[in-house]
Amino acid sequence: MNDWEHVRTDTEEGIATVTIDREAKLNALNPDVIRELGEAFESLRDDGDVRGVILTGAGRKAFVAGADIGVLAKMTPTAGVDVSRQGQEVFRAIERYPKPVLAAVGGYALGGGCELALACHLRIASENARFGLPEVGLGIIPGYGGTIRLARLVGLGRAIELTLTGEMVEAERARDIGLVSDVVPADDLGAQARTLMKKITKNAPVAVQMALESVYHAMDSSTAEALHHESSLFGLLASTDDMKEGMSAFLEKRKPSFKGS
Ligand code: COA
Repeated sequence: MNDWEHVRTDTEEGIATVTIDREAKLNALNPDVIRELGEAFESLRDDGDVRGVILTGAGRKAFVAGADIGVLAKMTPTAGVDVSRQGQEVFRAIERYPKPVLAAVGGYALGGGCELALACHLRIASENARFGLPEVGLGIIPGYGGTIRLARLVGLGRAIELTLTGEMVEAERARDIGLVSDVVPADDLGAQARTLMKKITKNAPVAVQMALESVYHAMDSSTAEALHHESSLFGLLASTDDMKEGMSAFLEKRKPSFKGS
């Protein structure tokens, strides 16, 4: 049993749900919440029963309404660096997680909440979701990777506009600019998140892991190096039972049954 105060995990049919549960403060991220979030993901990393993770916030009002402003208000310059690095480290571990991570965003995803969604591999939103980076209005900048990841996802022009105005965008606009891949009624968010995750987890787990590895490795590499890395991963998959199973199933006109090895 884990004794986290603000994070819950629940696994069903190979899909784990990690819920940030600090509803009275709109799931705002203080250092304890971030630490617990990191521990929750770590605890699921080697769990062979878990093929994908859905990350969400408790309640309908917010995914995460940002870093805890009460904590930020008291920070010194050195504490500010520590606050930023703690979040960056946990969010980076989510971005480089070996299993697919989907953010199911119901309600506000502001500041650190928006940055957390950006660190996930996929995002879907409820119709009442609102995204924004309001930091400059508080006299700070996004410090959990938002100044890097938003531009990569939606392009430089839109990222600059969102970051410098600090204004929120509605769910539909978030979909139009590629910030989320789908917008669904709030009542359907959990079910739709599972449906999308199942489309991924039905595939060969090691292949899914290697696809993530190749795509995210390429973000930090030259094209030549990334192509070399892709070939190595591609070749490595020829050693898996799952590749044999996937191809045999195709040739035998049946559905594959992957074991993740
Ligand atoms: N940090 C700390 N507490 C927060 C918070 C945050 N980022 N976001 C919300 N809360 C708290 C509020 O202080 C309030 O607590 P209280 O009931 O003890 O006073 C509670 O959550 C509910 O929020 P409230 O502001 O009353 O809800 P609202 O519906 O009027 O407004 C928001 C919702 C999201 C628009 C508003 O809470 C907000 O602007 N939050 C800050 C967003 C932000 O700037 N995030 C980036 C931080 S770097």
